[in-house]
Amino acid sequence: MKGEVIIVTGAASGVGFETARLLAEEGVKVVGADIDEAGLEKLETALRERDLEILTKVTDVSKPEEVASLVDFAADSHDRLDGIFNNAGIRDGTHFDDVDPESYHEHLATNQHSVYYGMHYAAKKMQALNTKNGRIVNTASIRSYFGAKKSFRYSAAKAAIVSMTMSGADALAKDGIRVNAVAPAFIDTGLLESVPRERIERLEKKHLKGRLLRADEVAKVVRFLFSPDSAAVNGATLLVDDGFLAVH
Ligand SMILES: NC(=O)c1ccc[n+]([C@@H]2O[C@H](COP(=O)([O-])OP(=O)(O)OC[C@H]3O[C@@H](n4cnc5c(N)ncnc54)[C@H](O)[C@@H]3O)[C@@H](O)[C@H]2O)c1
Repeated sequence: MKGEVIIVTGAASGVGFETARLLAEEGVKVVGADIDEAGLEKLETALRERDLEILTKVTDVSKPEEVASLVDFAADSHDRLDGIFNNAGIRDGTHFDDVDPESYHEHLATNQHSVYYGMHYAAKKMQALNTKNGRIVNTASIRSYFGAKKSFRYSAAKAAIVSMTMSGADALAKDGIRVNAVAPAFIDTGLLESVPRERIERLEKKHLKGRLLRADEVAKVVRFLFSPDSAAVNGATLLVDDGFLAVH
């Protein structure tokens, strides 16, 4: 992967931050994107202190024009593009009764439409640049596979990502682009910050290790999906859930 150019969204925190770090350690020229400018600065500092290559761009992934400009920025900066990790996301927690069409649309713009925008603009760019072995990795969730009253929008978005990953793989195989996803269980990141401690303790017990996942454990699977070792994996959503779905 040395010398490749890969965009990571949601790079200011959690899984995105750890993936940016791991890919940069492989010699990838990472382009990190997020709405959190301060978090992107922390990422730049952490990587540059270790002489690792990183560029960042403040981007709201719910806006197609911003994702288009992110993809242009990455490709123009390095004269190539090898992949994108569509990972930025927000949590839900709003009961179905309190969701309305406007807030439904807003949530899906960030958690689902953003993934389409990343797939669309990165695929067009890789087609135009005649990229060999392009890769797209998306972040789904175990919530792609079950519902909950306070996760109506989130589960809808994450279920769609599993489907978009399959259809995307079929559509882009002609261009040599692989499309895969990860479906993590609960990860100890900023996303769960507002979840009450007693609920976290209940969730911890649903993982076979009795604890939440760490962001770097998920990032290692993402790194695998970008690496040549996963050449035979395409259209797949890999569960990264420490047995959560196996036993619940
Ligand atoms: N934490 C979990 O338990 C969990 C479980 C399964 C899946 N996921 C998914 O993993 C992905 C990463 O989440 P995380 O756990 O690392 O959380 P996190 O909050 O640490 O990171 C998410 C990042 O996305 C960024 N972001 C949010 N909205 C954005 C927007 N509109 N444009 C650009 N950036 C935006 C945030 O600023 C943040 O830096 C998300 O897609 C999330 O849904 C998380």
